[in-house]
Amino acid sequence: MMLRFVFAGLLICCVVRAETGRSAWLRYAPLDTAAARQYIFEVPAAVTVLSSSTLELSARDEVVLGVHGMLGKDLRVEPTASKGSAILLGTLAEIHAALPTIALPKTLEADGFWLKYIMFVGGTRYLIIAGGDERGVLYGSFALMRKIALGESLAALDEKQAPYAPVRWVDEWDNLNGTIERGYGGASIFWDAGNARADMTRVSEYGRMLASIGINGCAISNVNADPKILSPDFIPQIAKIADALRPWGVHVALAVSFDSPKKIGGLDTFDPADPKVAEWWKAATDGIYKAIPDIGGFVLKADSEGRLGPSAYGRSHADAANVVARALKPHNGLFFYRGFVYDNHMDWNNPKNDRARAAWDNFHALDGQFDDNVIIQIKNGPIDFQVREPASPLFGALEKTNQAIEVQITQEYNGQARFLMYEVPMWKETLEFDMHAAPGPTPVKVLAAGKVFHQKTGGFVGVSNVGLDENWLGNHMSQANLYGYGRLAWNPDLTVKQITDEWTKQTFSANPKVVDTIGAMQMSSWRTYENYTGPLGLQTLTDIVGNHYGVSVEASENNGWGQWHRADAQGVGMDRTPAGTGYTTQYRPAVGKMFEQLETCPDDLLLFFHHVPYTYVLHSGKTVIQSIYDSHYLGADEVTRYVEDWKSLKGLVDDERYASVLKMLEYQAGQAVLWRDAVSNWFLRASGIADTKGRVGNYPNRFEAEKMKLDGYTEVAVKPWEAASGDGKAVQCAVEECAVSMNYAGAAGKFALHVRYFDQNSSLPVPGGRGGPAAPSGPAKFRVLVAGKVVDEWTATHPAPSARLDGSTSTRHIVSGVVLKPGDEIRIEGVPTGREVAGLDYLEIWPDGK
Ligand code: GCU
Repeated sequence: MMLRFVFAGLLICCVVRAETGRSAWLRYAPLDTAAARQYIFEVPAAVTVLSSSTLELSARDEVVLGVHGMLGKDLRVEPTASKGSAILLGTLAEIHAALPTIALPKTLEADGFWLKYIMFVGGTRYLIIAGGDERGVLYGSFALMRKIALGESLAALDEKQAPYAPVRWVDEWDNLNGTIERGYGGASIFWDAGNARADMTRVSEYGRMLASIGINGCAISNVNADPKILSPDFIPQIAKIADALRPWGVHVALAVSFDSPKKIGGLDTFDPADPKVAEWWKAATDGIYKAIPDIGGFVLKADSEGRLGPSAYGRSHADAANVVARALKPHNGLFFYRGFVYDNHMDWNNPKNDRARAAWDNFHALDGQFDDNVIIQIKNGPIDFQVREPASPLFGALEKTNQAIEVQITQEYNGQARFLMYEVPMWKETLEFDMHAAPGPTPVKVLAAGKVFHQKTGGFVGVSNVGLDENWLGNHMSQANLYGYGRLAWNPDLTVKQITDEWTKQTFSANPKVVDTIGAMQMSSWRTYENYTGPLGLQTLTDIVGNHYGVSVEASENNGWGQWHRADAQGVGMDRTPAGTGYTTQYRPAVGKMFEQLETCPDDLLLFFHHVPYTYVLHSGKTVIQSIYDSHYLGADEVTRYVEDWKSLKGLVDDERYASVLKMLEYQAGQAVLWRDAVSNWFLRASGIADTKGRVGNYPNRFEAEKMKLDGYTEVAVKPWEAASGDGKAVQCAVEECAVSMNYAGAAGKFALHVRYFDQNSSLPVPGGRGGPAAPSGPAKFRVLVAGKVVDEWTATHPAPSARLDGSTSTRHIVSGVVLKPGDEIRIEGVPTGREVAGLDYLEIWPDGK
């Protein structure tokens, strides 16, 4: 038996399987022989679950699956605890009844568990998974499988775990029509054409993923809510989803619309002070709970970004929250009231106006007025999931109100799953930030969990937005954000390194080279992204009023959305000190003063808090302007390095995911160069101060398309100008086929041609264009010829989130190994299709391999 097992282990260890990413970190890939050896004895041959509850059966099945996958061993399922060795699963009470002689912990917390290895004289062994409740049993089984996946010894296992906070939820911004707001991994797994999707397989798989990281609630509809979600005839749709998530201990929650009493309830008002409205909320809520008694609660976005709220009737957020919370209370439902309330029509000419102030201004004075099943759901920072923000001053400012921290797993402002951007270090930094809300350290994690002011509940919410793509989030590496969020919500004291290593080992491989390489990439990727987008607290310098993806430095200015950086000819940054907007005074004095004084304000947030001249010298010793230039070059170089790092893993991870991640990183490396040039040139023009290293605006290897010989192509001004090299100029083709050409004048050799072209997505509408989206016209095509010979051709198929020539569609294509002799003609041909104009920006000629 033992021999057979070892043999099986040997066989399975060496096959690198092709994978789609669908099983994420729950692959249960075979351990290598050395790692598996210890478990031959430690893992008994049988498993017994002491109840037939759905959750405990899920737990048992998970153990069977995990042991089969990782150890190649099929556990014998025993109906009752017999005398033989076994893995034993049950609640504390069930274990006690089955094994009265063993010493058990007196209590275990809700959702908590105890893992214990016991060996009796005579050799009978039990691996006990005892839960504080049924869900604890499930979480314990996942924890045990994780230990095996990580190769941890079980021989001395005696470990109690309990979640840090009761609330560990994800929000999904899924629309009932099947689209997802800010979702980058395909269509909704929940909804299709106005109803629950016919096939719930992916929902159930998602429930399993959530359970594996301890998530216990999932809001299944967009915060920009459709009132239909509360219609009585819609209940069966919700029930279907709840049924699929229930076996995983995940409560379904609904994002609701505050005008529902009027929109679907037939009332002439949604005034929270009107008794008819209160009755309506009660009846609607009772109706849902009657059909689905374990709904977790509701989420509400009110008085924000066009959503209706209590201000329509001059009522407060507390009035609004309590009317719904009271309807939920008899059912133990929670009401998440979003702290993300602000005015998006602010006057940008008024230097006192400041969107960052909004959450605190709206909620601070209401502390004590909210019912005890209301939770104020506060975004990690005061603006909107930017690449770097300080912790929201609302954390700890509410002493008598439950609160939860909301982070965004989906990478809306962080590269949208096209870029490697690991958010866990960013969240960790906020969670560890001391708000000085009471004597002793009061980091955000403790405040959000309600442990400082002893609120009734609290915790964590992550906006996840998974979709039907095989890898859930549109990018294999982005799964680490979901995993890391769950692990931090379970235990924010875990280190980032620990979480990252766990994820890599389970998701890719335990090979130390893989773990170290991916770990280093992940851990540095936030800083890298910040470096090539918006360093020093500038925020993500993206298309704020559009797709939140491509570069557009001025998009944030001169409009009411309030993400201003106020860069002008003299300087840059928002003055949020008392002399400016006074935002710093919303923090407790120890924190506010630290940000307020230039001497103590960290460089990373300098321009978030201060308007300074470009020549201001940072703590780093560099001027602001030189630091902006340097960090952009550093960031772009780092991404180029990621490509090489990843290539070193060839053969060590499966080919399918290897190729997919490589493609994504190569694309990112090209985008990082675009960002680098766009932002540095924008600041060069604004400040008039040259880069001391002579790089910005000076590209010796670059040949602008508009300056080459044009064959059918015509010059076009790209908007924003910084998204195209040569002061915003590029070329486009309005006839059947066009070309640019030049004669190579350098020394003979082997080169890489970097072609900067525009990869438009013609299935999207052109903003401000007449009519709706035209029928997609199919991708434009490109061809490169050297001395009359075709050296490469490609189609523009990257699904960039724009149909125009802009900072989202400018893309790089590299043609390597091209032999050039002096006088050779280099010709780039473009074939447009409908709205795709085969735009070209420039060509760069680099020594091959550079
Ligand atoms: C961001 C995002 C919106 C979303 C909003 C919210 O602004 O761009 O799509 O609705 O956050 O959190 O409510």
